[in-house]
Amino acid sequence: MVILKSEEEIEQIRQSNMIVAEILAGLAELVKPGVRTIDLDAYAEEGARRKGAVPAFKGYRGYPFSLCTSMNEEVVHGMPSDRELKEGDIISLDFGIFYKGFYGDAALTAAVGQISANAARLIAVTRESLAAAIKNVRPGNRIGDVSSAVQRCVETAGYSVVRDFVGHGIGRELHEEPPVPNYGRKGRGIELKEGMVLAIEPMVNEGSYEVKVKEDEWTVVTRDGKLSAHFEHTVAVTSRGAIVLSAVDGN
Ligand code: MF3
Ligand code: CO
Repeated sequence: MVILKSEEEIEQIRQSNMIVAEILAGLAELVKPGVRTIDLDAYAEEGARRKGAVPAFKGYRGYPFSLCTSMNEEVVHGMPSDRELKEGDIISLDFGIFYKGFYGDAALTAAVGQISANAARLIAVTRESLAAAIKNVRPGNRIGDVSSAVQRCVETAGYSVVRDFVGHGIGRELHEEPPVPNYGRKGRGIELKEGMVLAIEPMVNEGSYEVKVKEDEWTVVTRDGKLSAHFEHTVAVTSRGAIVLSAVDGN
């Protein structure tokens, strides 16, 4: 687990996450009917390399792409292909890089053209659950305070929280201690301390929380075939509360 010790280190990991944020914002603009997910992957990879950053997922445990593109019932780790986006789809884009010693990691779910009211609400609730989590990030709070905030937001809306994949500490490695589940109990888990950095990433299912991995050994899908959405921010714990490192506009 990294503990940032200076403003300079906060600035460095912010730079890494800003590159992720800018590329994700560019990707979100590209999401339109007819675009292939492999084109999104190329945009992400080239964008990173142009900034002198290294895509973090490519080669990670053998993952073959720079970007994860999870469509509709796909939860996470969907793989880019020549599949074209079509009107009404939703797509989760998850991207990470390594830059000057620090990792950045973030994700968002975007609408392809006009989507159903259902799908739009799932996306909105998932985004809100991440905001609720971030509000609970401050020194002295515990991981369970963050986890339970996500769970309450999601379950109150009638959706479910994926159990099999969780958020994580991040810093000099992509995945560091501690795990950051999206379900749990207030007051439980390790205490948050100044200098910690967390990647908080609610994965929210329209139906049951059960998931399975497809035959490609990467793509995680809902068991019931219903929709899933995913948002992720990298957040630093500071004396002033949470700083969202992976947002262009600070949230
Ligand atoms: N963004 C994912 C995470 O937060 C990492 C994807 S890893 C890869 O854990 F295997 F897909 F590369
Ligand atoms: Co992550």
